[in-house]
Amino acid sequence: MGTRPPKALLLLLLLRLLPPRGASAGSLQSPGLSECFQVNGADYRGHQNRTGPRGAGRPCLYWDQTQQHSYSSASDPQGRWGLGAHNFCRNPDGDVQPWCYVAETEEGIYWRYCDIPTCHMPGYLGCFVDSGAPPALSGPSGTSTKLTVQVCLRFCRMKGYQLAGVEAGYACFCGSESDLARGRPAPATDCDQICFGHPGQLCGGDGRLGIYEVSVGSCQGNWTAPQGVIYSPDFPDEYGPDRNCSWVLAPPGAALELAFRLFELADSHDRLELRDATSGSLLRAFDGARPPPPGPLRLRAAVLRLIFRSDARGHAQGFALTFQGLQDADADPAPLEGSTQTPAVPLDGANVSCSPGPGGPEASMGGETGVGGGSEFGGGPSKPVLTGLVCPQPRSSRR
Ligand SMILES: *[C@@H]1O[C@H](CO)[C@@H](O)[C@H](O)[C@H]1NC(C)=O
Ligand SMILES: *[C@@H]1O[C@H](CO)[C@@H](O)[C@H](O)[C@H]1NC(C)=O
Ligand SMILES: *[C@@H]1O[C@H](CO)[C@@H](O)[C@H](O)[C@H]1NC(C)=O
Ligand SMILES: *[C@@H]1O[C@H](CO)[C@@H](O)[C@H](O)[C@H]1NC(C)=O
Repeated sequence: MGTRPPKALLLLLLLRLLPPRGASAGSLQSPGLSECFQVNGADYRGHQNRTGPRGAGRPCLYWDQTQQHSYSSASDPQGRWGLGAHNFCRNPDGDVQPWCYVAETEEGIYWRYCDIPTCHMPGYLGCFVDSGAPPALSGPSGTSTKLTVQVCLRFCRMKGYQLAGVEAGYACFCGSESDLARGRPAPATDCDQICFGHPGQLCGGDGRLGIYEVSVGSCQGNWTAPQGVIYSPDFPDEYGPDRNCSWVLAPPGAALELAFRLFELADSHDRLELRDATSGSLLRAFDGARPPPPGPLRLRAAVLRLIFRSDARGHAQGFALTFQGLQDADADPAPLEGSTQTPAVPLDGANVSCSPGPGGPEASMGGETGVGGGSEFGGGPSKPVLTGLVCPQPRSSRR
């Protein structure tokens, strides 16, 4: 193991730099364009096969010819990480974005990141510089030794802010769109710190905020935009037991098209219902034993209500689905032929544990700030002291 990074800091998350704001008009407006619903592109299954500009646009090696390295199709027999007899960029090890091996260069560098414009988790706005004075996000803040992305999202949602930013693995800042307008984007790979409360997630970087819209992983919402994305409650954390959430989708049009990008419910007791919001009639229901079919789903309803419930034992990664309004009321409710969408493969990470070191957070939001605890951060310092992390970073220099 000496030379390979923990194989699976892989669950979710982190990073993908969205063009700051101008280009995004809300990442929620263009979910159809995204090929990734996890921030770090762990779910990327697209076909880019060259490294990014900083990797000098080199061709990627085929994963079935990289047995000399830690990751190859042989190390992924079930295709869980999307490796195979191809040379497409992938992120099998929970790095900050998809990468690939390249033919060794004279500097001895044998892998490079791929910059994939279509790979950005809707709702994640990117990695931003936070010099601290003034803070890049001007709202309330706090720290937690159990910080996860959703702990921060929940905190900022409760405080009535639109944006939540995680930083340095344990700090959380809330802000609004106007903060973002003066935000300074940083390279996606700067946001590479593991969340203290979840080794599979990344929570910003040193002096770098990973910023999200608070609607990500919310338990309710009314959506009237022409298209959008709904994540399961608490996403990118797992959803918890006894959740009862409901979203209303009312895009313009007479019908709706849904596409599941990720679907992993614990069992048949955890269930997602699609109802016609007007009549209340049940259109479709999916659960852990009966996942949605691959491909887009067309529903003959102008306004849809999604209801998600989990039982007392329920917890799993959850789902991400995109929707858009269709003018055509004549939509066929059956999955379309020839779709290339496949439900994302559930990812499961090896256990990696790490903890804040002795020089860790000075102020704490309280160790109770756990997932689903609904607890609130204590009055945080205006700027946490960023020192003493002992958690490994998903840096891949050892790959
Ligand atoms: C990348 O893939 C395309 C097809 O998707 C192929 O035509 C091209 O040759 C590939 N490039 C490299 C460098 O392998
Ligand atoms: C969402 O819409 C429903 C009716 O469809 C309404 O009862 C509810 O108050 C709305 N919620 C919000 C937050 O706007
Ligand atoms: C879920 O919440 C709705 C209202 O928000 C309520 O009517 C319903 O009874 C709840 N279901 C369960 C199983 O708690
Ligand atoms: C992960 O943790 C579970 C229980 O916490 C344990 O059963 C399993 O063996 C662990 N896996 C690894 C790879 O350490």
